[in-house]
Amino acid sequence: MKEVSHNEAASWWKRPERIVLAVTVDAAQKADIIALGWKMHTSSTPPMYAISIGKLRYSHTLIRQCREFVLAVPGEDLSEEVLFVGTVSGRKVDKFEATGLTPVPAKIVKPPLIKECIVNHECKVVGELDSGDHTIFVGEVLTSWICEEKKQNLSSIGEQSGYVHTGGGKGYRFGIIRP
Ligand SMILES: Cc1cc2nc3c(=O)[nH]c(=O)nc-3n(C[C@H](O)[C@H](O)[C@H](O)COP(=O)(O)O)c2cc1C
Repeated sequence: MKEVSHNEAASWWKRPERIVLAVTVDAAQKADIIALGWKMHTSSTPPMYAISIGKLRYSHTLIRQCREFVLAVPGEDLSEEVLFVGTVSGRKVDKFEATGLTPVPAKIVKPPLIKECIVNHECKVVGELDSGDHTIFVGEVLTSWICEEKKQNLSSIGEQSGYVHTGGGKGYRFGIIRP
């Protein structure tokens, strides 16, 4: 056994991570999108997901205000859009406009769904936990949507071997797991 830094230990298992997007809105209903690797399915009944958002992110401010978010799952075709929303702040740009992603009004929550994503969950924040430089927000799923035309690989980690690099940049590497 060799004692190492946390970063070195984490490098052995942390990546690749399944990527999701979270959509929030400001008081004027203008939407922002954040890319997230740190997320977890936390309850089946009712369905709940936890997402961990850095305290300095604009999305952190917005989710605190609107107490709702849409959790959207991008496919492999959205690598460029994921990279953009994950490296630029919504304080400076309208990410829907800049990426060309299509906002679709949600049924229950204020943030819109993302039309190009494979799955969209409408969530309300039911809990929050301080976690160092991030806050964990727990969202209860109110309703869910799938894109029926899109049966494709997720930008994700899976149980199978066979990681295939699909894109990325700026220190991020996206890929899929082939069965
Ligand atoms: C693949 C990927 C995964 C990321 N995962 C997280 C994460 O889990 N939590 C987080 O706070 N930021 C994460 N980020 C960084 C944010 O997406 C990024 O800082 C974003 O620009 C924040 O946007 P905002 O300021 O509009 O909220 C990730 C970025 C990428 C590209």
